[in-house]
Amino acid sequence: MILTTGSAGFIGSNFVLDWFAVSDEPLVNLDKLTYAGNLENLASLQDNPNHIFVKGDIGDAALIRQLLQQHRPRAVVNFAAESHVDRSIHGPEDFIQTNIVGTFHLLEAVRDYCSGLPEQEKAAFRFLHVSTDEVYGSLGKDDPAFRETNRYEPNSPYSASKAASDHLVRAYHHTYGLPVLTTNCSNNYGPYHFPEKLIPLCIQNALGGKPLPIYGDGQQIRDWLFVKDHCSAIRRVLEAGQLGEVYNVGGWNEKANLDVVYTLCDILDELSPRADGQSYKTQITFVTDRPGHDRRYAIDATKLERELGWKPAETFETGIRKTVRWYLDNQEWASNVTSGAYREWVGKQYGA
Ligand code: NAD
Ligand code: DAU
Repeated sequence: MILTTGSAGFIGSNFVLDWFAVSDEPLVNLDKLTYAGNLENLASLQDNPNHIFVKGDIGDAALIRQLLQQHRPRAVVNFAAESHVDRSIHGPEDFIQTNIVGTFHLLEAVRDYCSGLPEQEKAAFRFLHVSTDEVYGSLGKDDPAFRETNRYEPNSPYSASKAASDHLVRAYHHTYGLPVLTTNCSNNYGPYHFPEKLIPLCIQNALGGKPLPIYGDGQQIRDWLFVKDHCSAIRRVLEAGQLGEVYNVGGWNEKANLDVVYTLCDILDELSPRADGQSYKTQITFVTDRPGHDRRYAIDATKLERELGWKPAETFETGIRKTVRWYLDNQEWASNVTSGAYREWVGKQYGA
């Protein structure tokens, strides 16, 4: 069996759902259920005895030790993190606690567990740490895409906390021989994406007749990857990655934010036109830029393709259409997650 953390969130829950679509290997799912964790994402697994959900914190070393001893997983996949850049600007402390201190406690418990495993099980054990391309900083317009050898230059409290966690993971391999793998992925999008992030926020705001907020000039570039492709990359790295290695994961889909929002509007205009016949583009509103906003990210995923044979299955055009369709078909999910505390966040970030 494997143990995954943070897997009631966006990427983790997609990973768990895909895991059970292709495997019947049991999976222990540890999640603190912060505002970003949602068991509704996993409702279809309710009657699956191979999915064992545990509410808890990666920083709770005693709990992690107990779970490892009880279930004896062959791998741990760490998705758990505070993940939203804007929230890290308003309040970095949770990011330091979970992403750095939490990862440290998780590593300590795993190190302890691993050292007690019989040789054969120890040789097969893996700790896979899920990280981000934001650790590499920001690219100029003509710079080559991020490779695994790029220096770390994180610019936000979020990316700095992820960079610190990556360094800890690396150090546990070099110092203690912990069998680690790290993936650094670009921007994901797809089902169950919490509507604080650009794509789901704009879909929901468009449908709700609200402004589509574009930071600054909207010309910042991100490299978009459909979440199911990220999940297949993680499964592939878990299966065949070389110990201690880092793999960049990306979709070869560099897009300016404004173009992404135009595309969303075009698809919504087609699939769910406004009653007044106008385009959703009329709702686009330019707002104050994010402090320290990184201008461009781009991932060079050649290593993963060359060494492990992984390629994304979706283009941006196919993935974004599936995503818009999913939100249109799952408005109840979206309205459930955009109540209460979510409204407070929107008020704080975007004002009235
Ligand atoms: P998310 O915010 O949607 O989900 C995070 C999950 O972690 C939530 O379920 C939350 O309850 C849980 N969690 C938070 N603190 C915890 C703690 N202390 N202990 C246990 N669980 C805790 O995030 P996501 O977008 O699914 O990202 C998952 C991972 O992938 C993160 O490590 C993130 O840095 C990384 N990543 C995300 C993207 C992206 O575009 N979303 C891209 C690259 C890498
Ligand atoms: O690159 C990987 C990272 O992608 C992950 O590590 C993070 O966890 C994930 O949140 C994401 O970070 P971004 O900051 O790139 O994602 P976000 O959706 O918040 O923003 C995407 C771009 O859109 C970014 O340039 C900021 C801009 N934006 C975002 C919001 C929420 C807007 O213009 N308006 C908005 O309201």
